[in-house]
Amino acid sequence: MILDLSFEQLEEKNPRSVNIVMGEKKMDMKLKDKVAFVTGGASGIGRQCCLTYAQEGANVVVADVQYDKAKEVVEECKKLGVDAIAPPCDVRKLDEISSAVKAAIDKFGKIDIIVCCAGVLRDAMIHKMTEEQWDEVLNVHLKGHWWLLHEAIPHLKQNKYGRIVLIASTALRGTRGQANYSSAKAAMVGLCKTTAMELAYLGITCNVVAPGLVHTPLTDAFISNEKASKPMIDSILLRRRPDIGPLFGTTEDIANAVVFLTSDRASYITGEVLLVAGGRMI
Ligand SMILES: NC(=O)c1ccc[n+]([C@@H]2O[C@H](COP(=O)([O-])OP(=O)(O)OC[C@H]3O[C@@H](n4cnc5c(N)ncnc54)[C@H](O)[C@@H]3O)[C@@H](O)[C@H]2O)c1
Repeated sequence: MILDLSFEQLEEKNPRSVNIVMGEKKMDMKLKDKVAFVTGGASGIGRQCCLTYAQEGANVVVADVQYDKAKEVVEECKKLGVDAIAPPCDVRKLDEISSAVKAAIDKFGKIDIIVCCAGVLRDAMIHKMTEEQWDEVLNVHLKGHWWLLHEAIPHLKQNKYGRIVLIASTALRGTRGQANYSSAKAAMVGLCKTTAMELAYLGITCNVVAPGLVHTPLTDAFISNEKASKPMIDSILLRRRPDIGPLFGTTEDIANAVVFLTSDRASYITGEVLLVAGGRMI
């Protein structure tokens, strides 16, 4: 038999309860008591993901090389009523990633959600880029996150549950002066699609969120340099009303997409790349 249940039986089992309602009520992301492991969780987009998970009732593992800042995010999450930890986690050090995964399992007994968000920039034109600049960026964005999946996937498989999002960038299509970063972000798409294929049989999903320009500590210097950033700013098509949001993407814009893709509202979406970029590169 192809179908376990008829459409009518499905409706009965899973009535279209009011998921989205106007006014005070919000879409229930069904994340209560889930465990979210967020690399780069101490700052910018990663921090906002941690806080949004906490608001939605998920416990949080703030995995970041900035240990003191990560501990501050832990306190912010706890104030929102969930539990959180910040194990040391420099994603350039594979043994630290393994220990952070173990710390998460020891504390919470499971990992449901993984957000690969840690990132650095080491910009230079190709012919001026050093081996250190190349390795640093590839190691943080790509190798470290491959190793995190390597260590965490056995736990997801055991639990037959998992939602993974890799944070790439519109730079995955190439950017002058960022051969290392663009290469790493494009490769993260390959890592995502392969992960999605390997885990689909268990209902585990893996997607990419590719932000456009978001104002964070990572981009502060670039945005402040008007001459450098103007062409990019001009290419943002979406001119949303100022009372709705600014011209640049906000950390909330990205976290909302990430949290949706790692919720059961998105349980039928896998292997996809979602640009959250205000219409850049449509
Ligand atoms: N801000 C943007 O415009 C933008 C656009 C596209 C993609 N992104 C991506 O979003 C992600 C988050 O960037 P952000 O803008 O929030 O920057 P951010 O600098 O505010 O945050 C990055 C975080 O990664 C952490 N990190 C760096 N190296 C690490 C390591 N070795 N181990 C563990 N953690 C490490 C940092 O400590 C920091 O907390 C990055 O992957 C970045 O490439 C950002």
